Amino acid sequence: MFARLVLAAAIAIGATQAPGAHPISGRELAWPMGVSGAPWLDREDREREEAPALALKILNVAPGSVVADIGAGSGYFTERLARLVGPKGKVYANDIQQGMLDLLRRRIEKEHLTNVIVVLGEPANPKLPPGAIDLALMVDVYHELREPQKMLNEIRKALKPAGRLALVEYKGEDPSIPIMPSHKMTVAQARLEVEHEGFKLSAVHSGLPRQHVLIFTVAGERRTKN
Ligand SMILES: C[S@@+](CC[C@H](N)C(=O)[O-])C[C@H]1O[C@@H](n2cnc3c(N)ncnc32)[C@H](O)[C@@H]1O
Repeated sequence: MFARLVLAAAIAIGATQAPGAHPISGRELAWPMGVSGAPWLDREDREREEAPALALKILNVAPGSVVADIGAGSGYFTERLARLVGPKGKVYANDIQQGMLDLLRRRIEKEHLTNVIVVLGEPANPKLPPGAIDLALMVDVYHELREPQKMLNEIRKALKPAGRLALVEYKGEDPSIPIMPSHKMTVAQARLEVEHEGFKLSAVHSGLPRQHVLIFTVAGERRTKN
């Protein structure tokens, strides 16, 4: 099901060339999920299969904080983050597909969420304000980035000095998880790629049924080099 969705999505967004490999790790970059995958993101079984509520608990999002939901898709996490940060906080909901952002906008209007800022990003730039973000979150997104190094560099500039980057990625170490291999990552792959761009892995949570939650902070020597 997931494989079919991704293939249909790649065709739908006009992708003709294979995305290629990561220059540091050699990991095969994945096709992005297109708008036809949105119902899968919002499926009823998601809580039972992936425990996103537990992922949010692990992330420990403070009321009043500023969060960037990068690759927000149809807004499954955006909606929940907006409630967690509350009226004094803000969520930047970013994606590169206008179709996803149209669905997301409908969702925030329906839910009367007034603390969400919708941002159309570019494949190498999330278009976030500099030094403004407490938590940059990518749920099932990082493995799809076409330009992961440039994106990480831009995300680093958007974080506050003590800001966190969190990746939620399907466990590449576990062949029993029913997701295409190119849409999974091992902790070692993520660490190698992300630390190379000026971050430090500060926590690994592997208690979710299918995904790791990986928390990175900006490496000390890169904090002032924006
Ligand atoms: C599998 S979906 C996950 C959506 C959402 N995070 C969720 O968990 O429900 C991946 C999303 O990442 C987006 N994406 C891929 N590359 C991106 C990039 N460079 N910048 C922002 N979004 C990107 C895709 O458009 C797609 O909406």
